[in-house]
Amino acid sequence: MSFNIKKICCIGAGYVGGPTMSVVAQQCPHIQITIVDVNVERIAAWNDENLDNLPVYEPGLTAIVAEARGRNLFFSTDVDKAIDEADMIFISVNTPTKNYGKGKGMAADLKYIELCARQIASVAKTDKIIVEKSTLPVRTAAALKSILDHTGNGVNFHILSNPEFLAEGTAIQDLLAPDRVLIGGENQEAIDTLVKIYQNWVPDTNILTTNLWSSELSKLTANAFLAQRVSSINSISELCEKTGANVDEVSKAIGMDTRIGSKFLKASVGFGGSCFQKDILNLVYIARSYGLNEVADYWDQVIIMNDHQKQRFADNIIQTLYNTVSGKKITFLGWAFKKDTNDTRESAAIYVADYLLSEQAEITIYDPKVTAERIYADLDYLNTRSPEENRALVKVVNDPIQACQDAHAIAVLTEWDEFKNYDWYTIKHQMKRPAFIFDGRKLLNRKYLEDLGFKYYAIGE
Ligand code: UDX
Ligand code: UDX
Ligand code: ADP
Repeated sequence: MSFNIKKICCIGAGYVGGPTMSVVAQQCPHIQITIVDVNVERIAAWNDENLDNLPVYEPGLTAIVAEARGRNLFFSTDVDKAIDEADMIFISVNTPTKNYGKGKGMAADLKYIELCARQIASVAKTDKIIVEKSTLPVRTAAALKSILDHTGNGVNFHILSNPEFLAEGTAIQDLLAPDRVLIGGENQEAIDTLVKIYQNWVPDTNILTTNLWSSELSKLTANAFLAQRVSSINSISELCEKTGANVDEVSKAIGMDTRIGSKFLKASVGFGGSCFQKDILNLVYIARSYGLNEVADYWDQVIIMNDHQKQRFADNIIQTLYNTVSGKKITFLGWAFKKDTNDTRESAAIYVADYLLSEQAEITIYDPKVTAERIYADLDYLNTRSPEENRALVKVVNDPIQACQDAHAIAVLTEWDEFKNYDWYTIKHQMKRPAFIFDGRKLLNRKYLEDLGFKYYAIGE
């Protein structure tokens, strides 16, 4: 038994809601999907005739939007109308870490989720299935249910947890062929209804159903495990630098053990993204709130290691440049938290830049997809120095070769493929001497660059 779903509404047109619902719409032409957002500019960008202006950059996304938009996929700011008409509502709003009050810097700020629940409660006149898509702390569903069940207008709500596992940069392939779709809930009919939607393109064996709490906790746990692998290999990268081992060789050697597996073992300047740190902080906060201090400390260490990795990358630049970067030009290649996305949330580049700016470095940044506006906003948000000082010390340019001109050092912060194919000969000859490269992604070819005369430093070598 399942409910008949004709119309779906998704609240939140961001990095998760936008791509996810575009793929659902493409795969389910019989369902009308409206993605709503309070952000007028964002919705206008999703509706832009020029698909290059979509607010989210993801390989393959424009083709999907081109196919479904206007057919059964719509973007709108009329939140009430979309809620009213929908049989099923996905909640995909942001849940940042709280920056005030109790749990500051640790707990998830659920105010956007709560506002959604209250809006749904006040608008809904017919029964609805509510799907949590955003990553949420365990037991958020209970809070949602309590708000929704006290509307007093006799509407029935079924709450499902359906965490999204897509990674940015590969969102479309992750959505089209997910390792698994996870659906947690209490009401079998509601669960079956969502299963049926995914069955339009996902094989049954990849659709997993659990209780609500297992589903919510699995999402936090998956991200914590992935982040832990990065921190684990990064901790080994520091040891490699001291001992003469090479971290890529170590990764390869351990990854061939099928119990360990080869993925997610790339040493780096530190993980970023909107999820890893936030979700671990959530896990730590929840563990502490139950008095599980050993559990909390265990996971906290993953973040401590990540912060250390960013700091030590910056420290190494300073030390190598004869203990001062004051007034020196340092060029950043990359600002996004990983390649193939324009997302910069929690990007290691932000923190490395901040350390170097505090040492009075002058930084020039080139990223193929990130705007100058975004970069300045990221630095201003830290509040370390005034917006005027940030603009005086940091330049953002559109041409990578020009970015490197007269630089004392280049730091690679994001693993964009194009960096590999630059004319490094020309770059070398336009730089100050000695010409340093600090490769935070182990992206470039040591031998080639050393032959050109660069002084090349990479994480974990
Ligand atoms: C281990 C390594 O697996 C092996 O590659 C290395 O050469 C020697 O150390 P061993 O100690 O013989 O081998 O057994 P292993 O199967 O790894 O188990 C070690 C311990 O971990 C056992 O007490 C086992 O019960 C426990 N374990 C293992 C778990 O509790 N959970 C698991 O999922 C796996
Ligand atoms: C992550 C999870 O992978 C995804 O399942 C979840 O839904 C959201 O969070 P995302 O943050 O988009 O996705 O990207 P991911 O590929 O996981 O990378 C996260 C960070 O770890 C990036 O900064 C990346 O550069 C870094 N990383 C990843 C490494 O430094 N080394 C690795 O081996 C893998
Ligand atoms: P994520 O990576 O989780 O998708 P984003 O910040 O990219 O996070 O997207 C979340 C979106 O949710 C934002 O565009 C924000 O404007 C929107 N949003 C937040 N609260 C509401 C709300 N109450 N109603 C509609 N949209 C909302």
